[in-house]
Amino acid sequence: MKNTDQLKKGIKSQNQEFRRYEQVHKNQNYYLSEQPDQEDFDNDFAIKTVDFSLFRDDNPRFVSELGSALEEIGFAILSNHGIDQNLYHQCEKKIIEFFESTTLDDRLKYKASRFGSVNQGFFPVRKTTIIHPDLVEGWVFCRRAFNMDDDPNFKESDYWPIPEFEPFFRKIVKNHEKLILPLMQSMLTFLGSDAAIYDEKLTKTNFGFRLNYYPPLTKDQLDSGGGRMLGHEDIDIFTILPTQSVAGLQVLNQKNNKWIRLNPKFGDIILNTGDYMQRISNDIFPSTTHRVSPPVESELTNEIRVSYPMAIYVWEDEILEVLPNLENPKYEPIRAEKFHTSITSKYYGDEYSKDVK
Ligand SMILES: [Fe+2]
Repeated sequence: MKNTDQLKKGIKSQNQEFRRYEQVHKNQNYYLSEQPDQEDFDNDFAIKTVDFSLFRDDNPRFVSELGSALEEIGFAILSNHGIDQNLYHQCEKKIIEFFESTTLDDRLKYKASRFGSVNQGFFPVRKTTIIHPDLVEGWVFCRRAFNMDDDPNFKESDYWPIPEFEPFFRKIVKNHEKLILPLMQSMLTFLGSDAAIYDEKLTKTNFGFRLNYYPPLTKDQLDSGGGRMLGHEDIDIFTILPTQSVAGLQVLNQKNNKWIRLNPKFGDIILNTGDYMQRISNDIFPSTTHRVSPPVESELTNEIRVSYPMAIYVWEDEILEVLPNLENPKYEPIRAEKFHTSITSKYYGDEYSKDVK
């Protein structure tokens, strides 16, 4: 399909046209592209901030505040998580350097392809997926792209066009990796489950660390009806996303179908639950729709925006099943790779998951 056809398709589509791919119940309705005259904004809803120092102090408020924020909207803000915000300042600069010190041809040598559950590698502008003509260049690095365990056979150039970037971004993912078990144990406790039930599955687990480089927006792009990243839900257990310098993230409140503009303090982490979590929590923690829109202030359209979400997965052969303590399970157990690729076939075509059992 040509780019222009993709763009038109993306602009006209509503999420429910793709519901056959979904593996959890999604009742929300939205156009994939933004509809500036037809959308309502919820300016009163505040996504809750949860203080991570409560977890370190063993204060049960952490579990209840995190759990109730996620139950309500699928999003929470984490403050006092202990990661130096200078590292996040550096990270934004490094992402710009990463995309700007390589040519498009260099990047295209690493064009994304599926390896297990995840489409990994480089995604050019307007090619995030076949239904999303997003105005962003993205790059997904999974666990195997980082020398996490000092493997002597690890070869940076297999994944990185400039190998020197790997140690810097590894520092970010290693910092975020330390949050995985505390967050999961807290969510499981809130759900009334054994807190340690996912400890083994999430130790050295797979993840998708995505670098997003949003170039300055041209007038044509702004008029095209596209978006920086169109509405979607994350396909993961949860996503760890440091707050960005340039705003734009919006969250759909399913309860009133209004969008919420989200731009917490720089240094805080945005946390949201995804499809894997909605499945195992039997719909208690929702996989909430979100998108990235052009800045409200028109003078900021000339600014580059970057972000670096880290999506936490289980490995392909794990079975996703509703937590055993939850009554009346709505879903059958399913292999993680089957679950994941069945959903992402809406983005990459029906052939994408045909051989996955
Ligand atoms: Fe997302």
